Amino acid sequence: MTLTTATNAQAAPKIDLIIDTDPGADDVVALLFALASPDELNVRALTTVAGNVRLDKTSRNARLAREWAGREEVPVYAGAPRPLMRTPIYAEDIHGKEGLSGIAVHEPRKGLAKGSAITYLIDTLKSAEPHSITIAMLGPQTNLALALIQEPGIVQGIKEVVVMGGAHFNGGNITPVAEFNLFADPQAAEVVLNSGVKLTYLPLDVTHKILTSEAHLNQIAALNNNASRLVGSILNEYIKGDMEHYGLPGGPVHDATVVAYLLKPQLFSGRSVNVVVDSREGLTFGQTIVDWYDGLKAPKNAFWVESGDAQGFFDLLTERLARLK
Ligand code: BDR
Ligand code: CA
Repeated sequence: MTLTTATNAQAAPKIDLIIDTDPGADDVVALLFALASPDELNVRALTTVAGNVRLDKTSRNARLAREWAGREEVPVYAGAPRPLMRTPIYAEDIHGKEGLSGIAVHEPRKGLAKGSAITYLIDTLKSAEPHSITIAMLGPQTNLALALIQEPGIVQGIKEVVVMGGAHFNGGNITPVAEFNLFADPQAAEVVLNSGVKLTYLPLDVTHKILTSEAHLNQIAALNNNASRLVGSILNEYIKGDMEHYGLPGGPVHDATVVAYLLKPQLFSGRSVNVVVDSREGLTFGQTIVDWYDGLKAPKNAFWVESGDAQGFFDLLTERLARLK
């Protein structure tokens, strides 16, 4: 009895988490990773947004991910069907027509939760304990931006927003300077950057340092459960595009790095910086301008993660996938 009490007293508090996502191959890997980690992550809901594919498909794929993870009790709310201002863009060339490379999709057993993701975010964050909820942002930031525009006071409920997006040292992946999630809705990212919330960015700078290798894929395959087979099939197809485009020996698993960061931040390093996103029409549309050397002496509005431990990442992912069926 005493031992149990002592252990509980020492356990780190769970992270109260909302995952905003546009699944998306790497999003689904991130969702399986997060949903396999209930000891650390209290996933309250998945909120979906148009991004890699249209909203109906990202919402279906999020529901598939929770089904595959055996976590159908986690509600999925559909959010914005298009960006704040720009013309919608999709990434079917990378993620496939259904938004899930390498595997067949079906209609999931359980439907969407009633109500929109934006209303869910407003209601939840408004009534939350001060600075208690973390948001993992795995796609364009449209849902949170719309919620912040309608109810700026919801900032009080947010502990931290952890974004997969942006690029500085690495260069872009959709234009020479812009990363897809920021390019898909720069005005939304701007709203979040200017909102005063605590922000962490995992940009291409770090995700391109955490690449798959044959050994990493083999360690996942060796689990030989349904989750590992799904992740193996998704990744083997998904990484092809980046490996060819960049001449890389493996591919990044972008969105899953956000989950690894939440579970084990000690795998990563970065710096507090001032970040601005360019939302003007032109060649630099969607670019993140990062004042790494503090030349502007401007307020530091984000923690910019610049590197990470690739083997540590794949060991953690493998360990968590082993917990699923
Ligand atoms: C990001 O863009 C999307 O295509 C991926 O899902 C990831 O969120 C990488 O640039
Ligand atoms: Ca994504």
